[in-house]
Amino acid sequence: MQVTLDINKQMVFVVLLFMAVLSVVYLSYHPPRLTTQVVKKKLQFDWRKNDVHSGTQSWFNSSAVTDQQTLTSWGAPILWEGTFNPVERDEFYSKKKTVIGLTVFAIGRYLDRYLKDFLESAEQHFMKGHRVIYYVMVDIASKVPALQLSPGRNLTVIEVPRQSRWQDISMMRMQQIGDLIQDQIRFEVTYLFCFDVDQVFVGRFGVEALAYSVAQIHSAFFAANRNKFTYERSPKSAAYIALDEGDFYYHAAVFGGRPDLVLNLTRTCLEGIIRDKSNKVEAVWHDESHLNRYFLDHKPAKLLSPEYCWDLMPAKHIRYVRLKWLPKDYKKLRDN
Ligand SMILES: *[C@@H]1O[C@H](CO)[C@@H](O)[C@H](O)[C@H]1NC(C)=O
Ligand SMILES: *[C@@H]1O[C@H](CO)[C@@H](O)[C@H](O)[C@H]1NC(C)=O
Ligand SMILES: *[C@@H]1O[C@H](CO)[C@@H](O)[C@H](O)[C@H]1NC(C)=O
Repeated sequence: MQVTLDINKQMVFVVLLFMAVLSVVYLSYHPPRLTTQVVKKKLQFDWRKNDVHSGTQSWFNSSAVTDQQTLTSWGAPILWEGTFNPVERDEFYSKKKTVIGLTVFAIGRYLDRYLKDFLESAEQHFMKGHRVIYYVMVDIASKVPALQLSPGRNLTVIEVPRQSRWQDISMMRMQQIGDLIQDQIRFEVTYLFCFDVDQVFVGRFGVEALAYSVAQIHSAFFAANRNKFTYERSPKSAAYIALDEGDFYYHAAVFGGRPDLVLNLTRTCLEGIIRDKSNKVEAVWHDESHLNRYFLDHKPAKLLSPEYCWDLMPAKHIRYVRLKWLPKDYKKLRDN
């Protein structure tokens, strides 16, 4: 009796020792992934601390506009005229000496037709009074119009190779923006916005729009039922979104955030585009489909209402237009 008990005790000891050795070995190969978790949390939730409660007062009042949705289900602000105090916001970011980057692509006829108006109107309305760097990506640098920039604002021209199909121009934009953030932009700016060129600023597009990651609600779908959204519906594509999924339909004409997060966005979308190409599928709205998939997985910290990119159809809920999205002459522009 005595002997068996001792043997049992010894067995328990050996097993415990063995398990302890195993855990040490396991931990040395799989250290606790604290860093990954912190990064992930940052991506999705830091706006609470950094945006809504930044400054001396809460700058955002979600109940100031009552006929529109002003908060998402995950608590991110949706900016409408009246929900924020522009004077307080300007002071807050001026004190921090924030530098805002803007990337814009103008290739082929888009350069001739839209770039000048886009840049001139940005000088009037985009982040007025703040430090701005324009990163203008074109196929022919000598065609970039000469511009009288306000103090504190700079413009850099980057020549990019031309793709033959417009679909490829729009998809490869993700690669070009990513490369430029990696090599240059992340050392120069605090926040970055990426714009399509066929638009004109007509009202304040200010620092209230800055956040860790920013998405633009598409004007054509903001009142639509989500099963009407033009997401990519083929499961073969990396951009696939099921009929019962999705928050908003986002417009690829405007997106932004901290440079490291925009870099993550462009890289993730590019990976999806490349995966699709190797599977011989192309998402229905190209880079925009991949952008929508990205923002479904990585909820944006702030949403811009259609005031920030409006197609000019008259609508009673739009009280203030900030950026107007020009009617597209697709046939003329795209038949290169
Ligand atoms: C937010 O707006 C509502 C409606 O205008 C107003 O009654 C309320 O006092 C505002 N809240 C704050 C904190 O300013
Ligand atoms: C613009 O360029 C000038 C001169 O190189 C520089 O002093 C200034 O800091 C730049 N502005 C920004 C916003 O980077
Ligand atoms: C983007 O960020 C997420 C979360 O940190 C990370 O898991 C992912 O690998 C990143 N993607 C790219 C393409 O950098």
